[in-house]
Amino acid sequence: MLPPASVRKYSAGPLDMVWQCLHHRAYSRNLLSAVFFLVILGGLWYTLIPHSQRSFGDLFGSGKKVGISPEQVSDSEWARRAGEVRNAFLHAWNGYERYALPHDELMPLSDKPIDNFNGWGVTLFDALDTMLLMGLKEEFKRALPVVERANFSMEPGKYAPFFETTIRYTGGLLSAHALSQESILLQRAEDLAAKLDPIFKTKSGFPLYAVNTDTGSTKGTPMGTLAELASLQLEYTYLAKHTGKKEYWNRANAVIQALAQANLTRTGGMFPIRWNLTSGQPLDYHMSVGAQADSAHEYLLKQHLLTGKTDKKNLEMYLRTTTYIISNLLYISPRRHLLYVTDTPSSYAEPGRPTHTLEHLSCFLPGLFALGAHTLPLDDAASMGIHMKTLHDIAPLARSSWEKISTYNLTQLHMWVAEGLAQTCYTSYADQPTGLGPEEMLFLSPGKDADQGTLWIDVLERWRLSAPRTLPPGVGDKVPVVVTDEQRRQGSSKFRDYALKKPGYLLRPETIESLYILWRVTGNAKWRDRGWKIFQAIEKQTKTGSGYASLKTVEHLPPIKDDAMPSYFLAETLKYLYLLFSTEDPVSLDKWVFNTEAHPLPIFQWTPSEREAFGV
Ligand SMILES: *[C@@H]1O[C@H](CO)[C@@H](O)[C@H](O)[C@H]1NC(C)=O
Ligand SMILES: *[C@@H]1O[C@H](CO)[C@@H](O)[C@H](O)[C@H]1NC(C)=O
Ligand SMILES: *[C@@H]1O[C@H](CO)[C@@H](O)[C@H](O)[C@H]1NC(C)=O
Ligand SMILES: *[C@@H]1O[C@H](CO)[C@@H](O)[C@H](O)[C@H]1NC(C)=O
Repeated sequence: MLPPASVRKYSAGPLDMVWQCLHHRAYSRNLLSAVFFLVILGGLWYTLIPHSQRSFGDLFGSGKKVGISPEQVSDSEWARRAGEVRNAFLHAWNGYERYALPHDELMPLSDKPIDNFNGWGVTLFDALDTMLLMGLKEEFKRALPVVERANFSMEPGKYAPFFETTIRYTGGLLSAHALSQESILLQRAEDLAAKLDPIFKTKSGFPLYAVNTDTGSTKGTPMGTLAELASLQLEYTYLAKHTGKKEYWNRANAVIQALAQANLTRTGGMFPIRWNLTSGQPLDYHMSVGAQADSAHEYLLKQHLLTGKTDKKNLEMYLRTTTYIISNLLYISPRRHLLYVTDTPSSYAEPGRPTHTLEHLSCFLPGLFALGAHTLPLDDAASMGIHMKTLHDIAPLARSSWEKISTYNLTQLHMWVAEGLAQTCYTSYADQPTGLGPEEMLFLSPGKDADQGTLWIDVLERWRLSAPRTLPPGVGDKVPVVVTDEQRRQGSSKFRDYALKKPGYLLRPETIESLYILWRVTGNAKWRDRGWKIFQAIEKQTKTGSGYASLKTVEHLPPIKDDAMPSYFLAETLKYLYLLFSTEDPVSLDKWVFNTEAHPLPIFQWTPSEREAFGV
């Protein structure tokens, strides 16, 4: 059965096409071709309609290939598109340089500066390696003296948040150092690390929240959040490797060891959000891959990769984490069968129910899964020296999570997760009139188990037992559903399975980051094509006289802009777009690891003398 035509708004819907065919003189003269066309289009339309009227009983049809094939684009056209991203970067950079430097960020509507990350010029530090990758030598040359003059001082009473400072400033300096070999960059990264170091005065070795870089006084309770306490390993490992100083390795290693020793009995091998910085143990059961958690999961795999896959602890933690995520945090929406990852908040006493919120921040996860499937022999754990059953034998919840996926080909399973989630993250853009995705979506669940939703792994198992010849549920292309104003008033979730919880577009990178990694890993041009659509929307909807602006809502045309251009737009969003379109591969995923602010660091092996000196 076909949905009412009003439900979906295609740019040129199948009905329009039929209409045009019938009214086109050439076709009305030839009835036979018209009929032939109708049959083909009818078939096409049936395949294209993403099952809006079907129940879960018919879910297995959801994997049918939707016929959206990317247009053929030549290499020279991709190179031209990369050039357009480079121009976009120059536009943003020039605006920042003119109106905001030496302050942190540009306010792209009022052309005023704002200091929100210590006032040392965060956009400049964040953008250095993007300039290098784009070949913007003049801009880089103009930026270097600012780095030379930097002293990372601050007034009494102010504090540098350690996590943001490390991923943006330290990470930016180190990556630019790796790409340019300019020694001043490493020098300044060391200066900064020294000034931040009082942050590590906890018993666990996890960092506190913030520190005054002149007085060394710290701020923050003895409780920390996961992302903030476990996203420094890459940066401090690079520092150790390239300065030969053990003190930096000690900082990274303390975090790795504390994570590895944490008692995860009650969380099933997954790291929750709240931690006790004294005991180094988890404090709650809030499981999430979004805000306050995200990059800690990311750094498990990336630390393993950065150190040439020799570090087994991070690998083990990554495998347990992904098992938990697949079995417990992935859900599928009722009508369009969109795969999504959500979180389960908790009281301090017991695990909570899923919120069915999908955060834009969580859209890095498909890229991470694809990277893991690409770099690890997941379906040959023995070759990594790992016995998967024993690995998960730490707690009943870890065991049961593993049992749910143990008979799947893990490489394939992880790629399904990657492709399904990336599809949903992209759909969150394609569904909006602006072509840009919201900060948070709230998925709704079918009637009778409304607050429980449907776990993807359960539906996947039913699909598998049905001896399928279709793609797995949630995997495969989806047709965008742009709702009308009237439909929005009725509640748009009825038409597209989710409502917008936070409708703003903050120029964030995560979806594009995942499109980039999927393009590199699969070689399928559809991911690249989607990135191009997003870039065009960024150009059209967010550009201002001096830069690019966040939007207050993705649902309104003309767009309502917000006076903000975060530094990550230059560090991450434009960098991943550029690399996605570039016909070269200057930072191959087999040789480089991106920190969580998209700053690439080169993969290395410890030398025997480093092993001895650092006790690796
Ligand atoms: C650090 O640099 C800032 C900005 O250039 C300057 O105002 C400040 O006096 C310097 N502080 C110290 C301690 O040198
Ligand atoms: C870990 O936590 C569980 C549950 O709270 C507890 O029963 C167990 O004794 C703890 N294990 C260790 C080694 O502390
Ligand atoms: C954190 O751990 C320390 C040391 O084990 C303990 O004394 C303190 O009560 C814990 N704090 C909380 C909030 O659990
Ligand atoms: C698992 O799936 C991958 C990717 O589809 C495939 O290359 C590999 O051969 C499979 N491994 C096994 C053991 O079947």
